[in-house]
Amino acid sequence: MAEQPTVNRQVLGSSPSEGALPSSHEGMLQVASYSFTKSWQNLPVAARIIRLFLGVTFIYGGWNKATDPGFLNPKSPSYIGVQISSYLETSPISFLLKNMIDNATAVGWMIILTEFAIGIATLTGVALQLASLGGFLISITLWLTATWTVRPYFLGSDTAYAILWLALFFLVRQNTKGRHVTALIPDLRDRREVMRIFGVAAASVAAVFLGRRFPTSNPTPEAGSAIVKVADFPIGSTKEFTAFDGTPAVLFRTKAGVFAYSSVCTHQGCTVNYDKTNNLLICPCHNAQFDPTSDGSVISGPTKIALPKIKVAILGINIVEI
Ligand code: FES
Repeated sequence: MAEQPTVNRQVLGSSPSEGALPSSHEGMLQVASYSFTKSWQNLPVAARIIRLFLGVTFIYGGWNKATDPGFLNPKSPSYIGVQISSYLETSPISFLLKNMIDNATAVGWMIILTEFAIGIATLTGVALQLASLGGFLISITLWLTATWTVRPYFLGSDTAYAILWLALFFLVRQNTKGRHVTALIPDLRDRREVMRIFGVAAASVAAVFLGRRFPTSNPTPEAGSAIVKVADFPIGSTKEFTAFDGTPAVLFRTKAGVFAYSSVCTHQGCTVNYDKTNNLLICPCHNAQFDPTSDGSVISGPTKIALPKIKVAILGINIVEI
């Protein structure tokens, strides 16, 4: 990316990067400037690595949600409202989550937008300290909700993200002090500073709508079309398939008949796998385990919600979703 235009502004005191006010006392003045290149050059290599990783990861996180057709769809098992509901029983901030349930779709939009904004700001160096604090707060919130019940704690990634964001915040703060590349609170009286923030916001909104245009759903079968022929699916078989609504699913046939579940984990939406040895559906993300012989109920893990059932039946020579 090309170096951004340099912005000169006069600030007072020894630490203008902390948001000091302008002054007319020339002897005490220092020149502050924004530079994309300097925002990287002023950081030690370790901080650049952390910044690059966190920036790219948050953009990727936003993209993942933006392209997930179920994330903002109240009928989908990966809907943000379903995820929030699943944290109510275990999260220490459930009193906050209760207020979000009714506006879950708006919360979902906000989450996607915020992840993009923090990722883009982190990579471009616009309001970098503030972006680092934002990333820290999001990671702490995710830890208090999504990975609060993950034991031992290091299996949940959000604590590590929180520490990385905090480390980045202090590294940026220390290494740009006196160089004035970034301030904790952006100077909203500076027209170009405001333009840069608007640029990040506009890029984030554009990324959200771009992601919504490229949903990641698998091709869905026609209603009533065969999942598999009965003859090819003897008792004891399992088969992954895609349900009508695009949900990945897994089909079972036992002596009791045929039945199927959504493969979308009710914790955070990872795809569960069937473990034939233990006869369980197991989530690779945080190890939630579901029993397919007991209505997809939870055996263990950070979720309390069973896997949704998918209605299937034997129709003639085929097994179909109904
Ligand atoms: S997504 Fe966390 S256990 Fe499945």
